[in-house]
Amino acid sequence: MSGLTVLVVGSGGREHALATALARDPAVDVVHTAPGNPGTVALAAERFGVAAGGPVQQRLAALNPTDGAAVVALAQELQANLVVIGPEAPLVAGVADTVRAAGLACFGPSAAAARIEGSKQFAKDIMTAAGVPTARSFYCTDAASAEAALGAFGPPYVVKNDGLAAGKGVVVTSDRAAALAHAAACGTVVIEEYLDGPEVSLFAITDGVTSRPLLPAQDFKRVGDRDSGPNTGGMGAYCPLPWAPADLVEQTMTRVIDPTVAELAARGTPFVGLLYAGLALTSRGLRVIEFNARFGDPETQAILPLLETGLGTVFNAAANGRLADLGPLTWRPETAVTVVVAAQGYPAEPVTGGMIGEPLPLSDAVHVIHAGTARNAAGQLVSAGGRVLDVVAKAATLSQARALAYEAAGRIAFPQGFYRHDIAEWAVAGLIQPAGSL
Ligand code: AMP
Ligand code: GLY
Repeated sequence: MSGLTVLVVGSGGREHALATALARDPAVDVVHTAPGNPGTVALAAERFGVAAGGPVQQRLAALNPTDGAAVVALAQELQANLVVIGPEAPLVAGVADTVRAAGLACFGPSAAAARIEGSKQFAKDIMTAAGVPTARSFYCTDAASAEAALGAFGPPYVVKNDGLAAGKGVVVTSDRAAALAHAAACGTVVIEEYLDGPEVSLFAITDGVTSRPLLPAQDFKRVGDRDSGPNTGGMGAYCPLPWAPADLVEQTMTRVIDPTVAELAARGTPFVGLLYAGLALTSRGLRVIEFNARFGDPETQAILPLLETGLGTVFNAAANGRLADLGPLTWRPETAVTVVVAAQGYPAEPVTGGMIGEPLPLSDAVHVIHAGTARNAAGQLVSAGGRVLDVVAKAATLSQARALAYEAAGRIAFPQGFYRHDIAEWAVAGLIQPAGSL
């Protein structure tokens, strides 16, 4: 085999974005995405001649991502020499361990290392041990300890479900009763001090020892314009950040990523994959809000189109402990904006089955990633999830990328969809700045 045959596990916008970037790498012979979605099916058909609806596609679509044995069997059948696990659920369930145990190269952390996302309390333990700056917090298992913690910090209250919650387990509120109700509903929570200042997502690819940063991005967590309404998985993103301090990446690597990776290695559970640091640039300096054990969605959709280095080459180096042999990643001197088109009702109860007109907008500057789509019995594109499409635009300036993304979003015929109108708006207007020095 001359190049890489990659199996990407997952079916969302992140996996379609990963597959799209992998397909651009000349070192990659073929990319399969399983279970995949209509976007990854079209990519495989157009780029690699994998027949849409053919037997390979059917086997890909049949995969249960959290079934490690099934992932291994599919990878072997496809003769994949690199497995990339996209979402957190299979990582926390130990699918990467099963893949590695079968002798396959895998980009994605072990279950033990993925606990950094799977348990808020574990993440706090790692940060304390590694001296990583984060919000002070209490671990609360009952109403009395939750009440005490809320009293200790005062409003606004931050109450986090201890386990995985797909970006929706956190309530930030000044309403004490609502904070207590969320704690009661979750059972076990982490209650922490409120962090002021803008948020940044900084991702690093690591082989467990050496780490390489990606460009910083900003995500928009709330469902509505001006950060109104409930938290979501993320409604849009842009990259890089024109307002970020010049040493943001270096400071984050030195004070956050490197010590965390070293701490996990020292515990005998090295982290191999993508370590996502959610940061707040507060009045008291840089603080970690959370770690994730996988690429962020939708930040990835804005970051990867700017990557010049071949993504398959980077993943393969990380999966095989050879990241140090690879120089720093290189980037196009451009900027990208992602606008998420969601289904009405998201995040509570998104309506599914809404018709989406084709063709979707496509140009040199704009492409559309599928996040939650499906084809109905008649082969028509319909919505099948909360976040449905990600419109991605790339341009020389942030203001141009933003205009292109919104122009394209406005052309999508999806009557049951909606999107935020203010993605990257404040950044373009120069209205964002860190609350203090790093
Ligand atoms: P998490 O799941 O920990 O990323 O939290 C989701 C969102 O809740 C974050 O992106 C923040 O917008 C908000 N959040 C979480 N923790 C805090 C905090 N300590 N202070 C302020 N906002 C927070
Ligand atoms: N965009 C936030 C996340 O992926 O968790």
